[in-house]
Amino acid sequence: MTNVSRNFMIVGLLFLLVGIPIGMYMSASGNVALAPLHAHLNLLGFVLMTVFGLVYRVVPDMAESNLARVHFWLHALGAAVLLVMLFLLLSARITEAGMVPIAPIAELMILLGILCFGWNLLRNG
Ligand code: HEM
Ligand code: HEM
Repeated sequence: MTNVSRNFMIVGLLFLLVGIPIGMYMSASGNVALAPLHAHLNLLGFVLMTVFGLVYRVVPDMAESNLARVHFWLHALGAAVLLVMLFLLLSARITEAGMVPIAPIAELMILLGILCFGWNLLRNG
C-alpha cells in the first residue's frame, strides 16, 4: 500500500522548516517583503499538506486510489515550483511578466491535484 499520507505530512513539514525561519527573519529584521512567501509556505505547504495527509490516514480507501498519488505529486511539485517563483518575484530577481508561464502552470497543477482529491473524496470518501 502506498504511504501517501506519510508522504504528504513529511513534505508538508519540509515546507514548514523553510517557512518558519523566513518568519523569524522577518520579525528580526523588520523587513516583511517575503510575507506572502512565508504565508504560503506555511499554509499552502504545511497546513494544506498536513490536512491532506490526515484525510488519507483517516480514510484509507482514498489513500489506496491512484488519484491520491497523482494528487501528491501535483501538489508537492506545483507548490514547490510556485513558491520558488514567488521567492524570485518578491526578491526582485524576476518581474511579474517573468512569472509566466511557469507560475500559472504550477497553479494549474495544484488545482488539478485538488480536483483529484475532490473526485477521490466523492468516490471513496
Ligand atoms: C516562529 C514562527 C513564526 C514567525 C516568527 C512568524 C512571523 C511572521 C511575520 C514577521 C509576518 C509579517 C507580519 C507583517 O506583515 O507585519 C508574518 C506573516 C504571516 N504569517 Fe507568520 N510567523 C510564524 C509562523 C507562522 C505560521 C506557523 C503560520 C501559518 C500556519 C503563519 C502564517 C502567517 C501568515 C498567513 C502571514 C501573512 C499575514 C498577512 O499578510 O496579513 N506564520 N509571520
Ligand atoms: C495556488 C494556490 C494559491 C495562490 C495562487 C494564492 C495566491 C494569493 C495571492 C496572489 C495573494 C495576495 C498576496 C498579496 O497581497 O500580495 C494571497 C494571499 C493570501 N493567501 Fe493565497 N494563494 C493560494 C493558496 C492559498 C491557500 C491554500 C491558503 C490557505 C490555506 C492561502 C492563504 C492566503 C492568505 C492568508 C493570504 C493573505 C496573506 C498575505 O497577503 O500574505 N492561499 N494568495
